[in-house]
Amino acid sequence: MEVIHSIADLRSRIREYRRKNDGSVGFVPTMGYLHEGHASLLRKARSQSGLVVLSIFVNPLQFGPGEDFERYPRNTERDLEVAEAAGADLVFMPSVSEMYPTPTRTTVAVSGLTSRLCGASRPGHFDGVATVVSKLFHIVQPDQAFFGLKDAQQVAVIQQMVQDLNLPVEIVPCPTLREQDGLAMSSRNVYLSDEERKQALVLSQALDKAKEFVLSRPNFNTAELESLVRKHIATAPLAVIDYAEVLAFPTLEPFENSTHTHSIILALAVKFGKTRLIDNVIIQLR
Ligand code: PAJ
Repeated sequence: MEVIHSIADLRSRIREYRRKNDGSVGFVPTMGYLHEGHASLLRKARSQSGLVVLSIFVNPLQFGPGEDFERYPRNTERDLEVAEAAGADLVFMPSVSEMYPTPTRTTVAVSGLTSRLCGASRPGHFDGVATVVSKLFHIVQPDQAFFGLKDAQQVAVIQQMVQDLNLPVEIVPCPTLREQDGLAMSSRNVYLSDEERKQALVLSQALDKAKEFVLSRPNFNTAELESLVRKHIATAPLAVIDYAEVLAFPTLEPFENSTHTHSIILALAVKFGKTRLIDNVIIQLR
């Protein structure tokens, strides 16, 4: 495994691979502080691609004022161990000035899909994500890129961007990895106090209850479902709900049970103290 800091070096290394090999280039973009969820994307890439490229870059553009950019957890040494064990070939770790040498005047903005859920709670967040992912795609030029459905709205936004801009990359959505007790793995889980960590279980529990409710009642009512979920989350005294919404997936349009939508997403964002956790379940209806 090789660690690369400059765009020029990464480009020349990938060019060299392509000159000598027929295999495809698989790409896993991350912000580091790697956990098993990230490792699962790398392993999937390892199984499908000839060259596996991982990027670790905490992208300032996707953090709003007062969000956790400055204190986002970092541990390069451990990240490199996880990356190597999961099968990465190249690790791209650019500095902020390598990625943004001058203030960027070009923004990639995906409309519509970004008006709800995290797009509504974190204005500008998905512009930052789409802009950096588009830059990374231009730098790496991967054949496949692997994204976790833990961030389902991010997957929908990136898929739309790829389609709209005719980017020659296949987006591979991957399932959410969870701790044994159900908590979705996240780099931000380290922010949680012991008590918050215990109470954070209400997210995955609420999603399980919701799934059971939907599958046993084909004519379920959306408001009733949302209220069931909110009530369960409210059993955790430290939980403050940012959103708990049912939408059609992957369009992220409002869902009416009378329409012929095939899949829905129940998406949650819940704050525990300063820590904002997200989770979701995608349910196939018919
Ligand atoms: P980050 O939060 O580090 O996540 C990197 C990738 O890992 C994303 O595709 C995310 O969905 C996936 N991931 C996170 N937790 C997961 C879990 N529990 N199970 C499976 N996959 C999981 O998402 C970002 O970084 C950034 O927005 C990025 C795309 C890198 C752009 O800056």
